[in-house]
Order: sequence, then structure tokens, then C-alpha cells
Amino acid sequence: MQKNKLAIIGMGNVGSAVLVQAVAQQLAAEIVCIDINEQKAHGEALDMTHATPAGCSPDVKIYSGGFEECKDASIIICAGGPSIMPDEKHERLILAKRNIKVIGDIMKEVTSYTRDAAFIMITNPLDVTTYLAVTRFDYAPGKLFGTGTTLETLRFKRIIANHYNVNAKDVQGFMLGEHGNSAFPAWSTVSIGGVRLNELDKYYDYNEPFDKEKIANTVVKTAYDVLESKGWTNTGIAMGACYLAKAVLLNTRCVTPVSIPLTGEYGLNDVALSLPSIIGENGVEKRLAIQFPDSELEALHKSAESIKSILRANSL
Ligand code: 2OP
Repeated sequence: MQKNKLAIIGMGNVGSAVLVQAVAQQLAAEIVCIDINEQKAHGEALDMTHATPAGCSPDVKIYSGGFEECKDASIIICAGGPSIMPDEKHERLILAKRNIKVIGDIMKEVTSYTRDAAFIMITNPLDVTTYLAVTRFDYAPGKLFGTGTTLETLRFKRIIANHYNVNAKDVQGFMLGEHGNSAFPAWSTVSIGGVRLNELDKYYDYNEPFDKEKIANTVVKTAYDVLESKGWTNTGIAMGACYLAKAVLLNTRCVTPVSIPLTGEYGLNDVALSLPSIIGENGVEKRLAIQFPDSELEALHKSAESIKSILRANSL
């Protein structure tokens, strides 16, 4: 068990799924649930305490509280603000207006208690909220980052693993750019067991031809399949966020795409998006500006432009 304190902000479908995962993965000795609806936070915390004697973290302390609880948190996971609804035309960016206000309010509160706890942003539109939180609140560099295309990358690996009937852990490769509709597969990073993309068919079994465009579309669209089927997405993102939290708390130095503002990589500034990064005890330890072929660079710039247009429209 880690001797850490985790603060979860926003106890809706996503925050409560993070709570379940965090307890199951024994991420922290102490977990505080924070929500503007204090009763909901209390209920989620209490419900979870009833589960712990049957699980692997019987001693974890779980309770609800206010933002002052962030003061001694080792890590904060923020899922505050409304989520995209199934009828919202398949676009996370329409949440911008609402959640810019929500995240602004949350960051004002959090930064009056801490500026150096690791901070993992989940709230959509992810790259916009991350940009706002990093650039307007003077947070410790690298400590605040967004889950970004970690989730698309998990979906990508699942789909490729299914295609070749192999263990998803053996699939390498990243989805990059926006967490949302302009996310793109960096095909040049894809391999399975050391076999590069253009030779996969030679070594692995498959039932139908590998259709890159179809796979790219499916990765992006599958979030909406979940939304339309169950009304929200929470399990995948909760797992992704806890994977990142674990990387910080255990200094695992995993390499995964997360969102932070760019500082001139690929000629891009004034925008946050996901590039492969090393995640460790200091948060984003290093961002990898690896060499991409022109087609991927083009997709990256297109994705950046899509996020920038929302930042501009909201005067960010
Ligand atoms: C997801 O991709 C909707 O951003 C959320 O699951």
C-alpha cells in the first residue's frame, strides 16, 4: 500500500469509477472525494468504504471533504464538470464554454492550497481544460497534465490486438493529437513483438485485411458507441487515469501520450495536445518529439488547429 493521499475532484460517473480503480489498484492510503454536491461525494465515499473489507485495501481511508483537502494531497485527479451527452453530436469540444468556467473555478480553489501535487486532468474538452489549467494558474511545470490520447491509445491497442488475435500488452503504438475527433494514429510507431506495421500480416493471423482508415475511424468513434449504449464513458478513462497516477506514485516511467502545452515542438505553440511522454514521480518527465513522416506531421498540425480554434473562440 502506498502512503499517499489521492484527491478525486468530481464524483460523477467518471470520478466514482476512478475511486473504484484507485482502491482496487491500492494507489493510495488515503482518498478524499470532492464534489460541489457534497452529499454525492459523501455517498460515493461511504459506499466505497463498505466495499474495502472484501477487497485488497481494507485499511484505505476514504472520506469526502472540501478543496482544503488538496493541501497535503500527493496527487489530484480532476473529473469535475459535466460530461459529453449521447445527443451532443459526437463532439467533446462543445463542452468548452461550460467546462472552462468549471475548471477555472476548480483551479482557483486547488491553487489556493497546492501548486505542486501531481494533477491529472480528465475533464473534457481535455486539451482545452489542460491548456487553461497550465497556462493560467502557474502550476509546477510538468506536474499538471491531461490524460489526453492515453485513452485512444488503449482503444487502438485493443482493436489491433483483436485484429491479430494477440495480447494487447504486446501491441506498441500511439494515438496522438487531440483527445477527441482529430486524434490520429501514429502508424510509424506501431509494432507487435518487434514486427513493424508493414510486416504484421506476414507473421500474425488475421481474418480480414488490415484497413488503416477503418481502424483510425473506429478508435475515434468507439467512444460514441459506448456513450450511445450506456449514456456515458467511465471505465476506460478511469483505468487510463489510474495507470498515469500509478506512473507518478511508483515512478514507473511509462511512455504514453499525455496532454500538456507545446513549447515549439514541430513548430507548434499556444496549444495543448498529446505527444508520447515519459511519466514518473515529477509528472511529465520528458516529452518525446520523435521524428514523424509527413502524413503524421500533417495530421498533428490539423489536430492542433482544431484545438486552437476552440481556444481562440473562448479567448484562451
Ligand atoms: C471518452 O473518450 C467521452 O472523452 C470521453 O471516453
